[in-house]
Amino acid sequence: MFICGKQYRSIWVDQKSNKIKLIDQRKLPHVVEIITLNSLQETVRAIKDMYVRGAPLIGVTAAFGFSLAMKQDTSVNSINIAYEQLINARPTAVNLAWACQRVAKKLQEIPASDRKDFSLTLANEMADEDVETNRKIGENGADLIKKIVNNKAGSSPVRILTHCNAGWLATVDRGTATAPIYEASELGIDIFVWVDETRPRNQGASLTAWELFHNKINNKLIVDNAGGHLMQKGLVDAVIVGSDRTTVNGDVCNKIGTYLKALAAWDNNIPFYAALPTTTIDFDLENGSEIPIEERGEDEVLMVTGKTDLGKLEKVKVTLDGINASNPAFDVTPSKYVTGLITEKGVIGANRNSILTLKK
Ligand code: MRU
Repeated sequence: MFICGKQYRSIWVDQKSNKIKLIDQRKLPHVVEIITLNSLQETVRAIKDMYVRGAPLIGVTAAFGFSLAMKQDTSVNSINIAYEQLINARPTAVNLAWACQRVAKKLQEIPASDRKDFSLTLANEMADEDVETNRKIGENGADLIKKIVNNKAGSSPVRILTHCNAGWLATVDRGTATAPIYEASELGIDIFVWVDETRPRNQGASLTAWELFHNKINNKLIVDNAGGHLMQKGLVDAVIVGSDRTTVNGDVCNKIGTYLKALAAWDNNIPFYAALPTTTIDFDLENGSEIPIEERGEDEVLMVTGKTDLGKLEKVKVTLDGINASNPAFDVTPSKYVTGLITEKGVIGANRNSILTLKK
């Protein structure tokens, strides 16, 4: 997608230097800093410390991490070390485990002498697959938006509420929750997005609003507590969020706060969709109560970072010294509140029967 009119992906191999580049998302929206990944260790840090985040992107980043490990050492031991370190970098999004398992298995099947080149080719393929998947999610989701247009009285825009960042920065390109929005907009549908700020890390404020701004989609930032009120007032036509892991019964695990949006949508008879690649479905887990929920550091809650009037980035504390915080990073929305799952293979019900049809 676009930043200041120039097309980017969130991770790519630079043609000239052959180095792996990514946008350091910790610095957005104030600074667009592109960094180079040089080693497995740097890749693990990039995932752990959220230079990159979002379920699909951390999976693809891990694939590039394997290629950096193979540049150093192509032994089975090196594959195993990369696997252990990458898969444990973040616990909740299942795409990371899926990517690590896929790459490690393929590498073990081929001779050591082929592993260096093959691992980079595979990482690039996985990046391209993600883009294609999101394009299809966009098409399938846009069909739902067209239906909303047809059922809507008057000519006001279709108003979508989204939480966190399931935009292009959370994937390689186009996003999951935002893909239907971009697709609908490209089809000429008037579309407007309510962007939840998404405390504590503010992915909505710093990433989603920034993406939509640069890609000319009308949006307004709201505090996380405003969604229910806007729904009651009839100002939301649909909620579309991403997912970090979806279980066989259709429970959707996503950024903390998603569950409350689903409850409010349900109470107000507003459709609530999760847009996700099928790689986000954990066919080994029956329901969401089994998903490990990442607990992050309390500084994310106690501090906020922003730009001062003088243009300086500063981190400030919002509490008294000595206050403790709890910081669960994800929650689970039970399937009964989920109207449908927008996948690359079609829009399906959030239930066991529909989900099992997707299992290869
Ligand atoms: O902690 P984050 O920023 O990695 O959490 C991201 C989300 O919760 C996204 O909604 C999810 O990964 C889906 S991204 C297409």
